[in-house]
Amino acid sequence: MCGIAAYLGQRLAVEILMDALRRLEYRGYDSAGIATLEHEKIHCCRAVGTISVLQRKLTDSPIPGSMGIGHTRWATHGSVTELNTHPHFSMNGKFAIVHNGVVENFASIREFLSLQGYVFYSDTDTEALVNLMAYHYAKEPANATKDRFLESVRKSLLHVRGTYGIAVVCQERPREIIGARNSSPLVLGIGKGELFLSSDVASFTAHTRDAVFLNDNELVHIKNDSFAITTLDREEVEAVRQQVDWDTVAAELNGYPHFMLKEIFEQPQALENALRGRIENETATAHFGGLQMTTDELRSINRIIFCACGTAWCACLVAEYLIERFARIPVEVEYASEFRYRNAPLDPKTLVIVISQSGETVDTLAAMREAQRRGTRVLAITNSVGSTIAREANGGIYQHSGPEIGVASTKAFTSQLCIVALLALHLGRLRDLSEAEGMEIIGAFKQLPSQAKSILDQSAHIQTIAARYQNCSDMIFLGRQSMFPVALEGALKLKEISYIHAEGYPAAEMKHGPIALVAPQCPVFCLACGEENIFEKTLSNMQEVRARGARTIVVAREDSPIGATDDVIWIPPAHAVTSSILATIPVQLFAYHMGVLRGCNVDKPRHLAKSVTVE
Ligand code: M6R
Repeated sequence: MCGIAAYLGQRLAVEILMDALRRLEYRGYDSAGIATLEHEKIHCCRAVGTISVLQRKLTDSPIPGSMGIGHTRWATHGSVTELNTHPHFSMNGKFAIVHNGVVENFASIREFLSLQGYVFYSDTDTEALVNLMAYHYAKEPANATKDRFLESVRKSLLHVRGTYGIAVVCQERPREIIGARNSSPLVLGIGKGELFLSSDVASFTAHTRDAVFLNDNELVHIKNDSFAITTLDREEVEAVRQQVDWDTVAAELNGYPHFMLKEIFEQPQALENALRGRIENETATAHFGGLQMTTDELRSINRIIFCACGTAWCACLVAEYLIERFARIPVEVEYASEFRYRNAPLDPKTLVIVISQSGETVDTLAAMREAQRRGTRVLAITNSVGSTIAREANGGIYQHSGPEIGVASTKAFTSQLCIVALLALHLGRLRDLSEAEGMEIIGAFKQLPSQAKSILDQSAHIQTIAARYQNCSDMIFLGRQSMFPVALEGALKLKEISYIHAEGYPAAEMKHGPIALVAPQCPVFCLACGEENIFEKTLSNMQEVRARGARTIVVAREDSPIGATDDVIWIPPAHAVTSSILATIPVQLFAYHMGVLRGCNVDKPRHLAKSVTVE
């Protein structure tokens, strides 16, 4: 987690870095800091709290310099205090570092350095790393042919077990910055006479769209306006420059009170983007440009394992229902964090598909690498062009949802559902799905953006409903079949945004235990808009909780006979392939309004970060 940024150019570094940190704040927001370098003097400002707290401090005591490094933190080692806030310094004050990741063997590094007389002021793993750099720098002969600064960073990183995206400055090298990465993202931005480093390209696209995405075990050495990339083993690396089309304007609020609401309302557009160019009317199928698999290879697959975390994992569960139903291929769904350490049997006819909005979630990345190490082909569904997962997958599908800034995943989730539905159609048509069924599904996709829009029009109605439940202590979300993952996602959304304890269950499971929780202060949100054959059964499950005193909110298709309920949200009648997408929008709006009514910071919920780059 955490976001790092660095700048070397002619402009005031603080202004560039503060703008970058604001755009990186989604990666962590418990404290932030900046260090600049001018005339061989390092200036630093750090603050506990959001970037705005750091901004106030900097306004009171500005720091000069046209190069520097910055960090926004999501604490891993050490509590949220100013001492634990980055940048961290070597004991002699010569080195300053910002770090995203975890140095797993920091305790042994620290112990070794303590024996050499090093003193530590923070509880962080990062301080051990920066002191190790100072240690190697002191030992490196000054007249060596190799660059002393670069060698000290390189030697230190060779000791590290764990993950890092770093930017380091050295007091004796006033126009140089070194960056490096291993499993945490780092991208170089190349401007006119200025260079940028960042965890996320979106933090500098206002200045340049010319970018180089670093790979694991690579270092970039920036000197004035030039740079060189090498591996940890000193191999030279040819920089692959890419033009990014990421739209920074999309990362503004544009009149919405929160990014989460803006992104919920962007769903019709995000769905259109996911569908664009992928539907083939003539052959009643969907197609994708980047799968890198022949039709024969796709036909030979006899098992798919989906891996992901959090909301993206819920999208995998929907994929299971859709692909098994329409393509008749057995699907398994795994938490990436479990899969990576499990010796799951894999064979050449197994396909692994990972889903990740950010393309940087460390467990998903590790699950992908583990499957690849064992010779299995991995496809990735991701929103982040140029992310590590996108670059390392054997093939994949981009979501094209645009930047998702709110920590709660909303438009990225429904876009993932849309893509797995398209994939179910594609795989189904390569097998037994008839042309007529294919055309029916295509018809459903065509209606999808406008149907999504009609649900968004009910935001005020959903807000009124939320107001009636805002003081509840627990909540249960129920659904059956493809509505079960939506129930899980609804519960996850409510938990993370409003801090209300919530659980999602397959509706019929209630009587096997959870029904004991039912009480007036534990309302039940029932998704009765999935497969037709279980509609009445879902309603019976809802009546069972009502009979025991639960208040109920039901999401149902317009004009369907739902019986008694306290509240109802109608959604347009839809095909099974798109109904999970439509049913998600009410649960998102409900969680959003609950969070706002309860005074929560919906864009930056406590203890969370957008991109989870630690295990
Ligand atoms: O970037 P990813 O899709 O890999 O992220 C996975 C989860 O961390 C993410 O979906 C998380 O659960 C969201 N905060 C949920 O809203």
